[in-house]
Amino acid sequence: MEFMKLILVLSMLCLADGYSCSLELRPARAVVAFGDPISVSCVASRPVRVLGWEAAVGAANTQRDLTVQWGVDSLTDWIEEPICYGVFFTAPRQCEEKLHLVLYKTPDSVSISSLNQTGPMQEGRQYQLQCEVHNIAPVQYLNLRWFREQTEVYNHTFSDLTPASPVQVSSTLLITPRRADDGAQYRCVAELDLGPEGPQPPLNMTSEPLSITVQYAPYFLSPNAEIIEVNKGDEVTLNCTAQGNPPPVYSWNISHSREKESDDQAVFISSSLSPGIYTCTSTNRLGMKNKQFTIKHKSRGA
Ligand SMILES: *[C@@H]1O[C@H](CO)[C@@H](O)[C@H](O)[C@H]1NC(C)=O
Ligand SMILES: *[C@@H]1O[C@H](CO)[C@@H](O)[C@H](O)[C@H]1NC(C)=O
Ligand SMILES: *[C@@H]1O[C@H](CO)[C@@H](O)[C@H](O)[C@H]1NC(C)=O
Ligand SMILES: *[C@@H]1O[C@H](CO)[C@@H](O)[C@H](O)[C@H]1NC(C)=O
Ligand SMILES: *[C@@H]1O[C@H](CO)[C@@H](O)[C@H](O)[C@H]1NC(C)=O
Repeated sequence: MEFMKLILVLSMLCLADGYSCSLELRPARAVVAFGDPISVSCVASRPVRVLGWEAAVGAANTQRDLTVQWGVDSLTDWIEEPICYGVFFTAPRQCEEKLHLVLYKTPDSVSISSLNQTGPMQEGRQYQLQCEVHNIAPVQYLNLRWFREQTEVYNHTFSDLTPASPVQVSSTLLITPRRADDGAQYRCVAELDLGPEGPQPPLNMTSEPLSITVQYAPYFLSPNAEIIEVNKGDEVTLNCTAQGNPPPVYSWNISHSREKESDDQAVFISSSLSPGIYTCTSTNRLGMKNKQFTIKHKSRGA
């Protein structure tokens, strides 16, 4: 019981220390690139016995001076945050202040790839795109943003992760491409926003774009059957052009002809078409579509 009380009192003292700690760090938050120099002052606002820095590199202390520097010419260790401590003549006799140190490293690479497909995609199916960021720190400050052309489609943050040293992370985007996506470019941008003490504007690194190819069955811009009335000898154009990827091939079936026309043109132009039904078939490996043209002769005297 006594022991518990003691702990309670001690922790209250510590709280009080933290609160009224007569130490100030300048700056209180330091953002530094891996390998860069850094220097932070710890300043005491009342007479001090010992003032010092506890750190994995560059530890230092002074006696009676009201200022002590922590710094290195090149910070090349993923160290814990340094602590400045003071030992005073009067109460509170000890207190400390932890430096908010953000040591960062821009990614070695940001790359985008299609996980389950290297060749063309098919309309309506689902695919996974992946963006990989190599060797970035601290990942908590990373915002990975996905773009389709100029439009942001998704973003991914990693604030729940804790490592201070560089890691590799990735983000996955599920897409179900439509034919309008044929040729569309996807990119991902790794944004490292380290706050007002960090580089301005915030750092970002963009992947090479990934262009997707989408294959789709043929379709007609005007799919409705057409009825064409002509005078004998008029030139008639039957236009069966369809959109499709791969480009469709065409065949014609003529009602009054036994043979399937081997003519593989999308457009049929003739001045000697006899009345009848001309059915065009547009085909690629994803499907086929038919379109019907009916040719009638204009009745005399109409
Ligand atoms: C690609 O992978 C995703 C997730 O594993 C799956 O849902 C999808 O069906 C795959 N797509 C193809 C075309 O295999
Ligand atoms: C992240 O995406 C959400 C919607 O998904 C959007 O509202 C937000 O602005 C995006 N954040 C950034 C930093 O772009
Ligand atoms: C990348 O950074 C530049 C300037 O640093 C900024 O203008 C641009 O908007 C950023 N791009 C994205 C996608 O955030
Ligand atoms: C056939 O129609 C397509 C659009 O469906 C058009 O681009 C093309 O110019 C037309 N061809 C002729 C010969 O009229
Ligand atoms: C052409 O179409 C008719 C009906 O429209 C069909 O009976 C016939 O089999 C077709 N011929 C060929 C060669 O496809």
